[in-house]
Amino acid sequence: MIKKLAVLTSGGDAPGMNAAIRSVVRTALYNNMEAVGIMNGYQGLLNGDFIPMSKGSVGGILLHGGTILRTARCMEFMKPEGIDRGVEILRKNGMDALVVIGGDGSFHGAKGIADKGFPVAGVPATIDNDMGGTDFTIGFDTACNTALECVARLRDTASSHDRLFIVEVMGRNAGFIALQTGIACGAEYIAIPEKPLDIDHIRTKLRYARERGKTHSIIITAEGACSAQKLCDELKGKEDYDPRVVVLGHLLRGGHPTCTDASMAARLGAGAVQGLINGESGFMAGMVNGSVEFSPLERAWKEKHEISDSDMKLLSVLSI
Ligand code: F6P
Repeated sequence: MIKKLAVLTSGGDAPGMNAAIRSVVRTALYNNMEAVGIMNGYQGLLNGDFIPMSKGSVGGILLHGGTILRTARCMEFMKPEGIDRGVEILRKNGMDALVVIGGDGSFHGAKGIADKGFPVAGVPATIDNDMGGTDFTIGFDTACNTALECVARLRDTASSHDRLFIVEVMGRNAGFIALQTGIACGAEYIAIPEKPLDIDHIRTKLRYARERGKTHSIIITAEGACSAQKLCDELKGKEDYDPRVVVLGHLLRGGHPTCTDASMAARLGAGAVQGLINGESGFMAGMVNGSVEFSPLERAWKEKHEISDSDMKLLSVLSI
């Protein structure tokens, strides 16, 4: 029986993490458990940085960006000795179970803890949307909406000045943010790591567009495909456009979560605690076809999302 449940956030922050923390804490309290927050991810665990969580301590945070528990990327926790020490500290402090809210890197640590026989659940949260076992990760929808709003503003100035804007979005090695945002904003070209970049093809497309009387364009590039600056350097001077570079970067990680992210975070947080109560461990609570489903933590990195064939086709159909 779980009497004391710990929760931490780890890796890059994502909008909706606070909603997930709130849900984990309130579900634990509802089920008569003690809830404990671990500050600064696995680093905080190794430092014994624990704080008691009450109903009130998670009040008013639901729609706040960032994470009240703060987060970190902890190299020590990538090593077996770090994991051993983490498990020892959890046990020493009377914890019975742990919920890890984060991306696939964080889930590697969670799996290490579960393999030591300590009950762990994962809640997928990263703007990258690059994890298997869930249709969407917490933060992805917000990041795409933020990018969409930025691109809409850029289009105003792009059309006023007859310019080409090359907009770089995050996503690490995945192109989901670029793809989703690019489709939604009608980007003239979308570069993603999942598709080889063909600069000559972009040049030809831009030239044809110019000949058709198109005076401005937006290219969205995923950071994993090509940096906006590099793409700009390749295209500069070769076309009539006057290119400008915008790197949205960490802007996409901030801000209040969308309704989709906040509600999904609430459901997944509660699902994770329920799974632990049911005696499960080493699982993640993911959103699959609109329902909370449990799958082994390693599915997050072993069965990563792929861009669908229909979206790949859409990239060609919708480009300039
Ligand atoms: O994984 C989330 C993410 O924002 C990626 O999209 C990006 O590549 C990376 O984190 C940036 O990490 P950092 O905040 O450490 O620069």
